[in-house]
Amino acid sequence: MLRDEDRIFTNLYGWHDWGLEGARKRGDWSTTKEILSRSPEDIVEDVKASGLRGRGGAGFPTGVKWSFMPKEVKDKPHYLVVNADESEPGTCKDREIIRNDPHKLVEGCLIGGYAMRATAAFIYIRGEFYNEAVRLQAAIDQAYEAGLIGKNACGTGYDFDVILHRGAGAYICGEETALLESLEGKKGQPRLKPPFPAGVGLYGCPTTVNNVESVAVVPEILRRGASWFADLGTPKNSGTKLFCISGHVENPCNVEEEMGIPLKELLEKHCGGVIGGWDNLLAVIPGGSSVPMMPKSVCDDVIMDFDTLRGVGSGLGTAAVIVLNKQTDIVKAIARLSYFYKHESCGQCTPCREGTGWMYRVMDRLVRGEAEVEEIDALYEVTKQIEGHTICALGDAAAWPIQGLLRHFRPEVERRIAARKAGQPIMEAAE
Ligand code: NAI
Ligand code: SF4
Repeated sequence: MLRDEDRIFTNLYGWHDWGLEGARKRGDWSTTKEILSRSPEDIVEDVKASGLRGRGGAGFPTGVKWSFMPKEVKDKPHYLVVNADESEPGTCKDREIIRNDPHKLVEGCLIGGYAMRATAAFIYIRGEFYNEAVRLQAAIDQAYEAGLIGKNACGTGYDFDVILHRGAGAYICGEETALLESLEGKKGQPRLKPPFPAGVGLYGCPTTVNNVESVAVVPEILRRGASWFADLGTPKNSGTKLFCISGHVENPCNVEEEMGIPLKELLEKHCGGVIGGWDNLLAVIPGGSSVPMMPKSVCDDVIMDFDTLRGVGSGLGTAAVIVLNKQTDIVKAIARLSYFYKHESCGQCTPCREGTGWMYRVMDRLVRGEAEVEEIDALYEVTKQIEGHTICALGDAAAWPIQGLLRHFRPEVERRIAARKAGQPIMEAAE
């Protein structure tokens, strides 16, 4: 379990003053000027050495991503774009940072921006986060008034702006290139990659898109040292991580923990355990709805880091842990996710546009047992045709929950079809 002194987000629950004065008391903005006296390369190297991996879901090494930015500013300005469009079902960690510790993000923007020789950071916040946008803008205003950002930021001679932009409520605008399109005032649809944003990003300029949590932890890493962060967690999965735990636990919560904590310990220490006890667990979706679920047999011993979860056929994703106990109608739950992806598909590529609708319609019939057993194989085959054949990851994200269902709970799907044919009740909970 994470020691209190290793916690980064000391105001996660909003018990203290979120404003500049409170943030300063907690150590934020304390040695920023000294950090900015170091060379950009030096800062990038430290972030690399810390092992920080992107907290938005993909886990790409942050320092490596920063190193893709051109080493000199030539004809085009550089930008940092912060992805605060947190929309992944089950995920609500960036929201808490913005609500309760917004100065960590603003300071992280300045330091990250400096390391990439950027002139400005654009923070793209999801439209539904109205109160959070008001709070974050207030923190940005405080930082400007105190001379921490803007012209001659922190008295260093470096000019840096932070601009907040509100989205309009589309899940796909959390995909980094759709986000850039939206920020430019266009329809939010993903671009083909490559080119990656570091080559051609916002307004065609070199850009790095980072998640809120990734940016917000950087000042603390630089203050305490890369090795402090690297020593926490497991090899290649360093540091602390915000977990958002929801579903069938006694006390759903957000909590900062050490990367690599066993799932069982996470749920029992912080959430009062699974409703009905550990033996009543059916499955866990460990990283937001875009990663495949794990049945209880996997949950028993698994630890929570990127590589371990990938190794068991799932993923850490956004670390939004959705707990499903044996009272869950698992087919209906996955059908609901299918509806979500169908609804959020931007419609740009055929496998996703047509496939998400087709998969949802089949899932909807499977909920009622109104299908033939052969359709189960056809459904699985369609998920395989979508996976890896679309412009962005939404296609994969729509396919994986269904694959997880069919891999682990096929007997339940078949039971419903048989029950329907025999005129028996369908909606009995899976055991
Ligand atoms: P990705 O793996 O394609 O890219 C991750 C990051 O690394 C991107 O910034 C990309 O530009 C960069 N990158 C990857 N390969 C690169 C290369 N060769 N050169 C330069 N840069 C490179 O993943 P993506 O599509 O950005 O994110 C998918 C993840 O997002 C999913 O795993 C899911 O968990 C998560 N997600 C999070 C949401 C949220 O609300 N936080 C919403 C939906 C999905
Ligand atoms: Fe749009 Fe879906 Fe294609 Fe992504 S995969 S670009 S959401 S149609």
